Amino acid sequence: MGYERSVSAPNHELSTETVWHVTMPEIRFGRDSTDELAFQLRDLDVDDDARGLVVTDETLVDIGHADRVTEHLEAAGLSVDVYDESEREPSVEAAERCIEYVRESAGEAGYDFYVGLGGGSCMDTAKVARAVIANGGSPLDYIAEPTGDGKALTESGDPLVLMPTTAGTGAEVSPVAILSVPEKEIKEGISSNHVRADAAVLDPTLTTTLPPDLTAKTAMDALGHAIEGYTTHEYDSLLRPTDPADRPVYAGRTPLTEMFSEKAIDLLSNNVRAAVHNGDDLEARENMLQGALFGAIAGLTAGASLCHAMAYPVGNRYHTKHGETIAVLTPASTIDYNAASDPGRFADVAEMFGVDTTGMTDREAADALKSQYVQLQQDLNVLPSGLAELADITEEDVDWLARQTVETQQRLLRCNPRPVTEDDVRDIFLDALHNWED
Ligand SMILES: [Fe+2]
Repeated sequence: MGYERSVSAPNHELSTETVWHVTMPEIRFGRDSTDELAFQLRDLDVDDDARGLVVTDETLVDIGHADRVTEHLEAAGLSVDVYDESEREPSVEAAERCIEYVRESAGEAGYDFYVGLGGGSCMDTAKVARAVIANGGSPLDYIAEPTGDGKALTESGDPLVLMPTTAGTGAEVSPVAILSVPEKEIKEGISSNHVRADAAVLDPTLTTTLPPDLTAKTAMDALGHAIEGYTTHEYDSLLRPTDPADRPVYAGRTPLTEMFSEKAIDLLSNNVRAAVHNGDDLEARENMLQGALFGAIAGLTAGASLCHAMAYPVGNRYHTKHGETIAVLTPASTIDYNAASDPGRFADVAEMFGVDTTGMTDREAADALKSQYVQLQQDLNVLPSGLAELADITEEDVDWLARQTVETQQRLLRCNPRPVTEDDVRDIFLDALHNWED
């Protein structure tokens, strides 16, 4: 999940924040909840004779998930087209192609409803397409300056329902869509409540086909959202804006964050081995999808911090998958570096991971958490041992990565619970070259 936020809201008085706020789509969860998609759409005022678009990719068409969705919708009397050219980590051009398809197939006003079916990339493509059709123009109009024009979205558009087929990104509930800008080697988010879906339908039977490596990588992203959420600063460490409209979307951890993080870490850490090693274990898949949802809800309030900030330059330059990048960077950044900010929080996470912390100091418990996390990575058997194995990254590359992180990710870095300099980031990248001996 790509989090963007601004801590320094304008127009504030010098008083401490006392209010937190969260917006969520309608959520429908459980085995075969796909069979309730038409009901969900009608609940969003989709007419009986409506025409919609399923945004997905070729793999999900080949597996049969797209057919399952379209046959269900057609049996319910709705007509539906399928756009199956979503790309992994979609570029601005990829999103434009989907928007062009909508305009050619359904006219400028677009479809009556949209369904995003797939991983974060399919869901983000659907989010951007729906938003741009409703607001006009192209994706770059709504990407922040200087890359885009930074225009604000003012309309949400026709109903959008998202159906994740991975347990990881949380794109089904987040108010952001991430697009890459290949010529600049960067990714940019369109972040707005108008990007958020109206509903999420989470059916674990759609996730059993996910292969072991993607299961592991998306799980580590979800775990990152939950741990970063639990260990970030509290919402009341910010200043209260005079205008509630100026309150940042991601404003630090709240009691809601903590509750969802705890459950997410428990579900994810206790089920990921089963889900990776036996993909047909539906109970493990259900727990993973629930854990990823809860991690995303935790992230909805808290936002992400140092690890996600460092992951974006790595992903942009080396085209690594988001989840595996998070997995490789978490021990050195989220755990090792940030533990100094509040070791007790990390001792809590160690216990959620099943570490017996009896007799340990908080710092010792945080160290034990790091060992347990690295052990989990090794047990999954499909994750790289560090940045070196991930993308042949060497000590010579670290200066560039550290500079990019500091220059392009200030919004995330400002929110890190421990202040961080470029030298610190360089040291953390060096630590993350090898998390264990190959
Ligand atoms: Fe993420």
